[in-house]
Amino acid sequence: METLEALRLRRSIRNYMDVPVEFEKVGNILDAARLAPSAGNVQDWKFILVTKEETRKKIAEACLKQYWMQDAPVHIVVVCHPKKVAAFYGEKGEKVYCRHNSAAAVENMLVAAIDQGLGSCWVGAFEEDMLRTALKIPANASPEAVVTVGYAAEKPQMPQKFKIENIAFFESYGNRIKDIAAFMDYYGEHVQSAIKKGKEMFKKVLEKKKQ
Ligand SMILES: Cc1cc2nc3c(=O)[nH]c(=O)nc-3n(C[C@H](O)[C@H](O)[C@H](O)COP(=O)(O)O)c2cc1C
Repeated sequence: METLEALRLRRSIRNYMDVPVEFEKVGNILDAARLAPSAGNVQDWKFILVTKEETRKKIAEACLKQYWMQDAPVHIVVVCHPKKVAAFYGEKGEKVYCRHNSAAAVENMLVAAIDQGLGSCWVGAFEEDMLRTALKIPANASPEAVVTVGYAAEKPQMPQKFKIENIAFFESYGNRIKDIAAFMDYYGEHVQSAIKKGKEMFKKVLEKKKQ
C-alpha cells in the first residue's frame, strides 16, 4: 500500500474481530515503532506486547474502563524513560522530547497496522498507577500510550478533519493560503520543472560519459 493511501485509510478502530493477528504482522508493527525518529536518536522507548486476555482486561480497566479494548487481540503499551532523555537534553528532554519520541513511535505503529490490513487505536486515557501495577512498569519508566491492534469489525467514517487552508499558514503565523488549489498547482509546477531540469542534467552527464 502506498504510504499516503495508508494515511488516508487509517481510522481509529474500536471494534475487533475475534481473530488472532499473525505474529509476523505484529513483528512488523514493532519494527515500525523501532524505526521512528527520536530526539538525538536516544530511543528511550520500550514496547510491552500483551496478548493474554486477563491482562488485556486489566489494561481496559486501567484505561478508564474502555471495555471495547478487551476485544482487540493485541495491545502494545508504549513506555518512555524520561531520565534517559534528560541526560542529553535536560528538562526539555525529560518533559517534552520523551513524549514526542513515544508519539512518533505510536504513529509509525498505526501506519504499519493499516498497511497490513489491520485496525488499531491510539489510547491515551488511562489511570497511570493501575497500568503500572498491571504491567509491572518500574518508577523510572512512564507509560505513554496503549495501541490496540486487530482485524477491524467496523468501518468508521472519516471523522471531520480540518481542511488544509484552515490549518496551514504561508511563510508566517496567521498568514492564510486563500486559494489552496492555486498554491498546490504552483508547487506542482515548481516540482515538475525541477524534475525536468534534473533529468536533463542527468542525460547530459550520461552523454558526456559516452564520448
Ligand atoms: C494522544 C491521543 C490519545 C487518544 N486517546 C484515546 C482514548 O483514550 N480512547 C479512544 O477511544 N481513542 C483515543 N484516541 C483516538 C482519537 O480519538 C482519534 O484519533 C480521533 O478521534 C480521530 O479519529 P481517527 O483516528 O479515526 O482519525 C487518542 C488519540 C490520540 C492522538
